[in-house]
Amino acid sequence: MSEDKIVKKTKMPATIESLQTDLRALGVRPGMVVLVHSSLSAMGWVCGGAVAVVTALQKVLGSTGTLVMPAHSSGLSEPSKWESPPVPESWWPVIRENMPAYDPVLTPTRAMGIIAETFRKQRGVLRSSHPLDSFCACGPQASYVVDDHSLSFGMGEHSPLARIYDLHGFVLLLGVGYGNNTSMHLAEYRANFSTKRIVQEGAPIFVSGSRTWATFEDVDIDSSDFDRIGEDFFRSDAGQVVRQGKVGLASCQLMPQRDVVDFTVDWLEENR
Ligand SMILES: CC(C)(COP(=O)(O)OP(=O)(O)OC[C@H]1O[C@@H](n2cnc3c(N)ncnc32)[C@H](O)[C@@H]1OP(=O)(O)O)[C@@H](O)C(=O)NCCC(=O)NCCS
Repeated sequence: MSEDKIVKKTKMPATIESLQTDLRALGVRPGMVVLVHSSLSAMGWVCGGAVAVVTALQKVLGSTGTLVMPAHSSGLSEPSKWESPPVPESWWPVIRENMPAYDPVLTPTRAMGIIAETFRKQRGVLRSSHPLDSFCACGPQASYVVDDHSLSFGMGEHSPLARIYDLHGFVLLLGVGYGNNTSMHLAEYRANFSTKRIVQEGAPIFVSGSRTWATFEDVDIDSSDFDRIGEDFFRSDAGQVVRQGKVGLASCQLMPQRDVVDFTVDWLEENR
């Protein structure tokens, strides 16, 4: 949505102060570990845009809280699998040979939104080492969350998602739906279902300072049923833990990550 339309639909701008009030009313508390998926335009016009949202989140979480956001860079992946857009087969070797290697400082996020991209660039924020599926974090648990992110099975047991699970962290959907609830991918790694497939992925990384095209195994992840799973979760007894509310104009949900991951494991085993 254009900024012009956002201004027109907003009665009063959200501010760092008003965002903090909304986040607290939703249930965000000091000391929490929170993984945030966001859309700035959904919030109505925010005075200070993404910087104000990151600041408000950090103020509410306080010095004991840990803020986490996805920093995925899906453009650094096996080109034969690209869909939006696909590229001609004759380009695949050129891309494998020339795509710049993942650099946690330089490589931008892709399709994660301006709030996640702004957070990524903030001084002191740590970013995990996965070339496609990295996460950023700041706060006392940041190292625990982002360290030791394995190249293979990048959203599985050796990923920031599993570390947030260990820490009893929360997921905050800030103006976005369950289709963006990345933690549900962790459930895909954990669940046993008949259509589960292991695939070969590829990405350019630095090994001892030299660029190399690495290949590695991953689960063939699929978020196409996440919105449906989210609806079932929300309506279920397990979903009673979800807190709903507005932050600015955005419809938001805050949930303990464990509950949605565990529910999704059972759902996938029954339905996929
Ligand atoms: C894709 C996605 C980021 C798009 O959301 P969006 O609100 O359109 O985009 P952003 O959050 O980047 O915000 C930028 C928009 O904010 C608007 N904007 C600009 N200034 C603003 C302000 N001060 N206040 C409010 N909105 C403003 C602009 O319209 C801008 O859009 P433009 O770049 O087209 O001009 C969002 O739908 C999404 O999917 N987020 C979750 C990503 C994620 O975590 N994925 C994980 C899955 S693995």
